[in-house]
Amino acid sequence: MLGPPGAGKGTQAERLHEDFGLLHIATGDILRAEVANGSTLGSEAKRYMNDGELVPDEVIISMITQRVGGGEARDGFVLDGFPRNRQQADALRDALAALDRRLNATLLIEVPDDELVRRLAGRRMCVKNPSHIYHVEFDPPKHADVCDQDGSRLVQRDDDREETIRTRLGVYHSQTEPLIAYYDGAGLLRRFDGRRTPDEVHDHIRATVATLKLEEEL
Ligand code: AP5
Ligand code: MG
Repeated sequence: MLGPPGAGKGTQAERLHEDFGLLHIATGDILRAEVANGSTLGSEAKRYMNDGELVPDEVIISMITQRVGGGEARDGFVLDGFPRNRQQADALRDALAALDRRLNATLLIEVPDDELVRRLAGRRMCVKNPSHIYHVEFDPPKHADVCDQDGSRLVQRDDDREETIRTRLGVYHSQTEPLIAYYDGAGLLRRFDGRRTPDEVHDHIRATVATLKLEEEL
């Protein structure tokens, strides 16, 4: 899953998990859990995340390749937030080749920058489960600041401040966007109009993944 901050990667990856039982591997969620645990990795990562910069590749690459090689990923996985630059993309290609596996598709969700700022500023996240994502205007919970799914408190992410959002968008354009051409060249790229409603984006992505799955099984 590829796309700028706030494009809806987490929202859609969680739905793919429900539709197809794919393991949802979200680098941001894993890092935030490390920060909350107060681990060494978490305290190192926190500095970069709060500034909106990328956490160093060596930390991220081993964290993700471990999960991709694990038993839970055996029947398929969705990567959300990884790879984010060319080094990470090359490391992923090598790790998958060593496992005799490959990517089936790169799902790109496209949304213009001004819309992304509105989305991130209004995002709320469940304190217990980061996959439960809301928006005060576009996808509000039934009761303000309470998660519909488990009744937990909803919070704002530390990096969803306007200044940090601008840095994250800059990092995306300079470091991650070149991966669009990389995956297009590999024949894997599928584009989705992320300005549509979450349900419409979901319908399109689900149809694409269902077709890919059928082709794989033939
Ligand atoms: P990460 O957690 O991955 O953040 P991100 O890429 O900035 O993306 P977001 O999670 O903010 O957005 P999303 O696309 O998931 O959107 P969502 O579904 O929530 O990374 C955070 C940090 O960790 C990075 O800055 C970096 O420091 C570090 N990091 C992570 N991975 C790394 C890596 N590989 N290498 C190095 N460092 C790494 O939706 C957003 C909002 O919009 C929600 O409120 C939602 O309800 C709403 N919404 C969703 N879809 C729609 C729609 N169609 N219409 C209207 N509203 C919508
Ligand atoms: Mg996310």
